[in-house]
Amino acid sequence: MKTRLLSRLMTLALLCGISGSWAQETFKIGLILPMTGQSASTGKQIEAAARLYMAQNGSTVAGRKIELIVKDDGGVPDATKRIAQELVVNDKVGVLSGFGLTPLALATAPIATQSKTPMVVMAAATSSITEASPFIVRTSFTLPQCAVAMGDWAPKNGIKRVVTLVSDYGPGIDAERYFKERMQLNSAQVVESLRVPLRNPDFAPFLQKVRDLKPDALFVFVPSGAGAAVMKQFLERGMDKAGIKLIGTGDLTDDDQLNDMGDGALGVVTSHHYSAAHPSALNKKFVEAFKKANNGLRPNFMAVGGYDGMRVIYESLKNTKGGQGGGEAMLAAMKGQIFESPRGQIYIDAQTRDVVHNIYLRKVEKKDGQLYNVEFDVIKDMKDPGKSK
Ligand code: DHB
Repeated sequence: MKTRLLSRLMTLALLCGISGSWAQETFKIGLILPMTGQSASTGKQIEAAARLYMAQNGSTVAGRKIELIVKDDGGVPDATKRIAQELVVNDKVGVLSGFGLTPLALATAPIATQSKTPMVVMAAATSSITEASPFIVRTSFTLPQCAVAMGDWAPKNGIKRVVTLVSDYGPGIDAERYFKERMQLNSAQVVESLRVPLRNPDFAPFLQKVRDLKPDALFVFVPSGAGAAVMKQFLERGMDKAGIKLIGTGDLTDDDQLNDMGDGALGVVTSHHYSAAHPSALNKKFVEAFKKANNGLRPNFMAVGGYDGMRVIYESLKNTKGGQGGGEAMLAAMKGQIFESPRGQIYIDAQTRDVVHNIYLRKVEKKDGQLYNVEFDVIKDMKDPGKSK
């Protein structure tokens, strides 16, 4: 009798011990970002947004303490891959996240697949990324979404002859291709497609060529952080005065840099999924809280990708009672999430694991003495056009 009671007590203690240690065990999120180098602003924005999300939503989810491990890959793919490996093997992270540039996400995809670790892409935006691993979920955007929106808007607004200028890698090539296809569909023309190197680009010789071609507009894609240099050289060459309009995806008039671009940026029309001026109550709260926590820094589209990525991870943890069932269960709980983001309504397509959201047409305007991308039209709930090819 006594021994039975004792053994029952021991079983109970063991069970409590196990569930206790499960609950106490921290859940680690690896956040790999370019904190140095050409894309350092992307790292800064995403880290700040992830920390804001945690400050607002608590650092314990489904009984598990969340630890965010931020690592700098300097924007170098080999470094991203090595760091991801270390995070999975040594730190035992439950989720990999971040990925400031397409090559960094692509380099890491095999690690997510092999280790069955969900990989939340918060920045990189080449269409094909989600196909590189079944464990990838994306909360940023895709270039085809923006390029198609602009390829519809421009011809309807008198822009018939365009030169494209893009950074020569995944997202630039997507932007060039989908913009051109859409222009042609709308009986308009891309007369020349120029590609500039991703690393340390010199835009001057390309812009000279554009001037000589005298198109109605120049369509630009450059990654976050490079837009101000394009704008400066475009204006210095008096291209606007020569009657050439500047259009592009919203990466060009990035909220991180826009206010320093000067009045020459006024009137530039771009297509994108997020503007700090998005007029929703939720976005106003987000922008205010982000600025307050970061010395007045304005959040850009990278910050929103990071903020929403944390939401996707938190909800997945809640729905799996703290990550029970491992990476596959967490991945399943990421698919199909629908929620209101600072950008508007967003949906993680369960089939493609890619983001479905509104794409806005925006014009740079001055509001309260500051430059903003002011939204004036919207294409609702746009899926990635790259997925149907
Ligand atoms: C990518 C990077 C950016 O900074 C951006 O604005 C868009 C796309 C990329 O590398 O995928």
